[in-house]
Order: sequence, then C-alpha cells, then structure tokens
Amino acid sequence: MTGRIRYGGDYNPEQWPSEVWDEDVRLMVQAGVNLVTVGVFSWAQLEPAERTYSFAWLHEVLDLLGDAGIGVDLATPTASPPPWLSARYPDVLPVDARGARYSHGSRQHFCVCSASYRARARRVVERLVSEVANHPAIEMWHVHNEYGCHVPYCYCDNHAQAFRAWLQRRYGSVDELNEAWGTTFWSQRYGEFAEVLPPRLTPTFVNPGQELDYKRFSNDAFLEEFFEERQILRTARPDIPVTTNFMGFFKPLDYFAWASELDVVSTDNYADPADPDAMMLSAMHYDLVRSLNKDAAWMVMEQTPLRVNWRRHNSPKVPGQMRAMSYQAVARGAAGVLFFQWRASRSGAEKFHSAMVSHSGVASPVWAEVAGLGRELDGLGTLEGSGVDARVAMVFSWANWWALEAPAKPANDLSMTDQLSWMYRPLFGRGATVDFCRPDERLDRYEVVLVPSLYLVTEEDGAKLVSYVERGGTAVVSFWSGIVDERDVVYLGPYGGPLRPLIGCDVVDVAPLPEGMTIEVEWEDGTRTGASFWADVATEGTGHVLARVASGPWAGRPAVVEARVGQGRAYYLACRLDAAGLARVYDLAPALSGEPAVHRAGPGVERVVRTSADHTYEFLINHSEEERVLDIASGGFELLAGKQLGSRVALAPMDVAIVRRDRAGPGD
Ligand code: GAL
Repeated sequence: MTGRIRYGGDYNPEQWPSEVWDEDVRLMVQAGVNLVTVGVFSWAQLEPAERTYSFAWLHEVLDLLGDAGIGVDLATPTASPPPWLSARYPDVLPVDARGARYSHGSRQHFCVCSASYRARARRVVERLVSEVANHPAIEMWHVHNEYGCHVPYCYCDNHAQAFRAWLQRRYGSVDELNEAWGTTFWSQRYGEFAEVLPPRLTPTFVNPGQELDYKRFSNDAFLEEFFEERQILRTARPDIPVTTNFMGFFKPLDYFAWASELDVVSTDNYADPADPDAMMLSAMHYDLVRSLNKDAAWMVMEQTPLRVNWRRHNSPKVPGQMRAMSYQAVARGAAGVLFFQWRASRSGAEKFHSAMVSHSGVASPVWAEVAGLGRELDGLGTLEGSGVDARVAMVFSWANWWALEAPAKPANDLSMTDQLSWMYRPLFGRGATVDFCRPDERLDRYEVVLVPSLYLVTEEDGAKLVSYVERGGTAVVSFWSGIVDERDVVYLGPYGGPLRPLIGCDVVDVAPLPEGMTIEVEWEDGTRTGASFWADVATEGTGHVLARVASGPWAGRPAVVEARVGQGRAYYLACRLDAAGLARVYDLAPALSGEPAVHRAGPGVERVVRTSADHTYEFLINHSEEERVLDIASGGFELLAGKQLGSRVALAPMDVAIVRRDRAGPGD
C-alpha cells in the first residue's frame, strides 16, 4: 500500500435512503476520507432470495464514491448469511458443545464446514465479482469479516466428519493418534477414526490433545473457506490486494498462519479507554499485527471514534484521545486508520455505537475530531517508505497459547496475555518497540529475544532459540517454558525440554503462589524486590544465580539465573518478578533500556521511531492527562505543527509530536 495514509471507515449505505448518499460523499471529501469498506453485511440486500440478485444499488454507490476519488475496500458479504439460507438449509447453522443449534437473527450464524453454506458463499462471491470486479473505485478486497468472531467453534456433525479427515491427514493411523493424545489415560483408546468426536460436552476435562487439535483444525477450517473466496477474487482481479480484518490477540485463530496469506494485514482495535492499561495493550496489539507478516503492509480496519455499545458501561475516548490513538497506530507502522462506522445507524443492534457521523450529524464534537484528523493525515505523505525497526523480539505462538491455557494445569489462571503484558509493559514505558516472532522465525536481527511462558515448544524450535543465543543473542526466558512438545506431551527431567540450556538451573517442580501472596527476591548486592503468582522449585545448575527467593516456602532457591551459552547469554526468570525486579533484568541489556528522555518525562508518554532511507520520524504521544516535557537534545523538525524544535518538546495532554530528523545528522 503506497501513497496517502488511508482514512475512512465501514460504509453501510444500504441502511439509508439514497438521498443520504450524496451528503455522505460530500462529508467524506470534507473529512479527507479516501477509503471506505462497503458491503460487509449486505448479503440479504445483494441476494434477497436464493439466486435472485439486486446489484443496482451497489453499482450506484461505487460510482458515487469513485467519482469523488474515494477508494473502496469491497467486502464479501459471507459473515452474515440471509435468513433464507438457514431456513432452507438448516445445517448452515452452527452447533455449540452441548448440541444446541444457533438461530439466525443476529450475525456470524454459519457453520464453516457446512457444504450448503460453502456453496452459497462461493456463489455470492462469484456473482459479486462478475458484477463489479472491474469497477475502478475498488482498491482492496475485504474477505468476510472478523472470521470466528462470535462462533469460533462449531461442534456439529459436519465438523465431526471434517475433523476426522483432518486427523487422518495429520496422523495417518489411529495408532499414531492414540500415541499423540495419550489415550491410554482414562480408557480413551480409539479403535478407528470414526469414533473420534469434536470436544463436545463431557463430564470433566476433555483429552488435552483432542482439545488442542480441535483448535488447530478449526483454524484450518476457516482458513480453507477464506482460500475459496480469495481464489475467486484473485482470479477476477489479481492486481487488487486482499485483506481480512483481524482482532489483535484473538485466541481462536492463528493469525501468523493467516497473515502470510494476505496482501495487506488489517485489524480491529477496540481497546477500552476506561482500562488504565489500554494504551499499552493497544501498542502491543499494533506491534503484533505489524509483525504477523513482516513483508506486508498493515492497517487499522476498525476503531471507534468515541465509544462502543457492547460493554456493560461504554466509556468514551476523551477529547484528543481518538487522534492520539490513531497516531499510535501510524507510529507503529499502520498504512491506514479506519473506523466502524461512517454514519451511525438508526436501527439495529449497533445504533448506539458511535460513528464518524453521529445521530446529530456534524454538530457532535466527534465530527470536528474526525474531519480534523483526516485533513491532518492527508498532509503526512512524507512518511512514505518508512517503517519500524525493532531491536527486541517477543516469541509468541498460537499453539502455545492454546496449550498454555488448556485446563488442568498447576495455575489455571495463568493467562498468555498477562504473561505478554508483564514482559511488554516496561518496554512500552521505556519507549522501546517490540516485534512479535513465531518460535521458528529467524531471530538474528534482534538484539534481545523475550520468551514469555513458551510452555509448548517443539524440539526443533527450541534448538533454534538456543542457537540464536549461542551465536551471540540475548534471551530473557520466563518460567513455565519448554514444558511440552507439539502434542502436549511433557518433556521429562528437570523442566525446560529443548530450552534447558537457556534455563541455567534445574526446575525440578513448580509452585504457583497462593493468590495475593508476594515473596521477596534478594539480588547479589543485597537489594530486595518482590514477586508473586509463581515460583519454580529450582536447584542450582550451570548458570549464575543473580537473585534468590528470600521469603516463603521456597526461600534460598534460584529466582533469576544467568546462563552463558556460546557467544550469548540468557536470563531465566523463575517467578513473576515485580516491576522493580524486571527492571533490573532489563537494565542488563542495552536494547531493553529504551530512551532515557521518555523515562524522565513521566508516565504515559509513548515513543516510537519510524525509519526511512533518509529520515527518522520519532513519534511522541502523550497519553496522560498532564503536560509532559521531553528533553530532545537532537532537535528536529516537528511535522504536525510544522516547526523546527530546540532541545525540548512540550506535549499537552493527548497531544502528539512527530519529529523528523535527517539520518545523516540532526533536524533538517
Ligand atoms: C466489530 C465488527 C463491526 C462492528 C464493530 C463494533 O467487531 O467487525 O461490524 O460490529 O465490531 O464495535
């Protein structure tokens, strides 16, 4: 995606009489809108009865937008089938784990393994393509919408059959499947694939291997449907990029696998402005999405201008916050920032979700913010060719997330996203940017690799991580890493499996700490910090113990261990260190120490640097409600205010600065 930063939103003109469309387009032009997503939920409008089509309205809308120079991200309508489809073909409706069938009347009520659904989804996409694929306004294909969002798992008979076929391909024989799932336990041995079921309602824990494979299979089933739609779109117009909108840290889908199939990666971000961690979580979300396909452009497909309507209490973004959060995305590399939705609906379940054009039209302060930002972004073409160069990587995989959070563990409240935020938070505060990497990715370009609870790791991937350190890298590995292989089968001996060389001590057992309990950790210089949640029961190994547990039942045991491995080193964290403890570890690695001016400015300042061949662009965003002053010795040219800076920059609450510097020297 090149050229202007894309700006706009979901446009649902079918909800409005056509008289409103002219005003829509006039306002879009006024607000600098250059890309709108059309048709996401239009199946019932496009095909009101089976094989009866109505495309005239879509032609008209595309013409109007095209004539105004507004690009279209044209969606396939398959995320919300029309009522006639499930009324005629009941197996289109998904089934939950208890065997109850969903009904139509909402959205996302489809079973992705239903042949009836698949055939009709293909047909409507083919029809869409034959009607409008050559329209000049179309800039991007938006396949479906938020795959898996409301019904990530279906347990119907179609799924049972497809699951068995998937297992047969994966294991070849039922004996292999029995071995992988450990079915000697609880008399679960299968005699043939036909006996295997999706993990439907059971009296207690389902076999963890079955559960894990069902997650893998369900991900693949959605992906297969996506491939069918993409094939139709690409055949018609191979020149138009394809996207589908993700939801950041959405557990059911392995977005690494998806992103490599996309031309543009896009995401929807609805961070809760009432959450004190929202800006950190949102930064982490964007770092993830940017990293999913490191060779593709990415953008924000949806965010809300003000508030959502689906939480219990829907706090708004405060004035200026929508702009600050939009720049947060641009800072982290986004090629576009779009909203849900253009005009607030009058009816339907989302009529109180805010929109770029509110119920009160341009009288709402939201309009001034939306139009102001659109015009401002229009002038930022100078960011062209720049990207984010992270020096720190965080290892993350969906298979690990699925296995880590499966039930019946020492700590069933151990959450992947908690572990990620625990290790990410200090970096956000220090102005250091992070790339997320799959465990099998090449890590050589990173100075430090963070490994939060990589519970599931294959022998091969573990060896790659070890070799990264041997060749001079630095790793910080947290507790509960290297516990099982890809089948969820435990590596015997002290825990760590293929990661043992990075652990430096012998983790002979694990001990989650009682809720609310804090233990002390004593460092070599006698300083004490705290830890909570977890303590490994470890004995000394080949590494150097930097800190020990100093209180509670595990006093004296290693808490932080440094292992020298080849040319590099690894730090192992045997408990969940508090902020002060983690800071001590991060201070040991220059790439983790961040930008001192950001530390000094006070909390709430986000810093990200985009780099191009000639320039650096330092984004400074003040998410706090107080003015923050940063000392920026190297000066530079501030793009938003259009002025040369001295040695300091003062940021009002929610304000943003983008400081451009020549790569050869200070500001130009
Ligand atoms: C997204 C969805 C949109 C809209 C929005 C509301 O999940 O893609 O269609 O429902 O949420 O926040």
